[in-house]
Amino acid sequence: MNSDSDLQIAGDILAVQHLLQPAREHPATVAEFAGLARSIAADRAQWAHLVEYDATTRWYHRLGTGPGYEVWLLSWVPGQGSGLHDHGPSSGVLTVLEGELTERTARGERSLAAGAQRVFAPGYAHEVVNDSLEPAVSLHVYYPGLTEMPMHMAARCTTETVPA
Ligand SMILES: [Fe+2]
Repeated sequence: MNSDSDLQIAGDILAVQHLLQPAREHPATVAEFAGLARSIAADRAQWAHLVEYDATTRWYHRLGTGPGYEVWLLSWVPGQGSGLHDHGPSSGVLTVLEGELTERTARGERSLAAGAQRVFAPGYAHEVVNDSLEPAVSLHVYYPGLTEMPMHMAARCTTETVPA
């Protein structure tokens, strides 16, 4: 073994649990934000009764907030889409809760079935569309909270306030 350190963990790691960091109350890493979204997805009682569908405009509901982040619940009737946009300075985690969504980017498109997650960094541009014949529900965690959602259009750029 080639090591400058002779530090080793010997014995039962469980015996030193008091030396480990306690679980954080709020997520702070990409993995923890993705984990938060998965835990909400698995707990339908937190969100299923809140979902509404609106054929005239995209429906959204702020499900919760924490230090520096927001959690949004969105519904998509067949044919509804976000348009091509980014999320300003926010990074995020998109999780499909029900149904199926299609995500389009400059690199192509991918189908996102229930349970699928997409993690994106600030400036990531995509379009989310319900191309299926059934309604869909998605969960969006933004860090920091969404303050702007610049739309990407061929001829002009506008700022939308509906999360996606
Ligand atoms: Fe988005």
